[in-house]
Amino acid sequence: MVKKLKKHLFPIAKFFFDKYSRKERKYTYEDITVDISAEIFPPHFTISTKILLDYIKPLHLTDKTFLELGCGSGIISLFAASKGANVTASDINQIAIDTLKEAAVKNEILLNVVYSDLFKNLSDQQFDYIIINPPYYPKAPQNDKERAWFCGEDFEYFKKLFSQLPKHIAPNTWMILSEDCEIEHIKQLAAKNGLSFELILEKSVLKEKNYIFSLQKS
Ligand SMILES: C[S@@+](CC[C@H](N)C(=O)[O-])C[C@H]1O[C@@H](n2cnc3c(N)ncnc32)[C@H](O)[C@@H]1O
Repeated sequence: MVKKLKKHLFPIAKFFFDKYSRKERKYTYEDITVDISAEIFPPHFTISTKILLDYIKPLHLTDKTFLELGCGSGIISLFAASKGANVTASDINQIAIDTLKEAAVKNEILLNVVYSDLFKNLSDQQFDYIIINPPYYPKAPQNDKERAWFCGEDFEYFKKLFSQLPKHIAPNTWMILSEDCEIEHIKQLAAKNGLSFELILEKSVLKEKNYIFSLQKS
């Protein structure tokens, strides 16, 4: 019931998101600050980014290889790099890529920032960690900004991701999803590519349940 209501409310919420995010904002985690323009996924408005940041916080990441696939503002990538990880941050949104490169300089943090449609421009490098906070609303994105939210009418983002992921899968391949999305359908798409989901964290914020899953080859 609550889930259905939220789905109906999404267009209204998005209207306010868009209005709020027209102004450039800053988002800070620990002592790292990034600029969030209207073109970039707003971590201050959603809870998924913060849940991932808190989950990563106690990890020993020194010298670990770490990929954030679809990095948006890159706050997760910058934080992982500040903890000693060897980070690659990728995104299909060129504005996010350029903004993250500037944020890396401002925060004096070294990381590798790559423009890429999923794994297309990433080499065959294997990673210790792959972190994914995917777009999950089933609608066709009309521009790069909307790619942060919409996965295609027929879940094309997930279909493509799961077809590529078996080749790149890391010991820790984590995806965050909300109860607000069609988790069972997404799991089925993964299963078609021989991937299974294991729940590693469940967290409720403002009555919305969020889950971090570990993806593995089944
Ligand atoms: C929900 S946002 C998450 C951003 C960031 N990881 C975070 O947690 O704040 C999803 C991100 O995936 C990116 N994205 C969408 N489709 C993509 C694709 N095919 N290849 C790479 N990145 C993509 C979007 O541009 C957006 O930055």
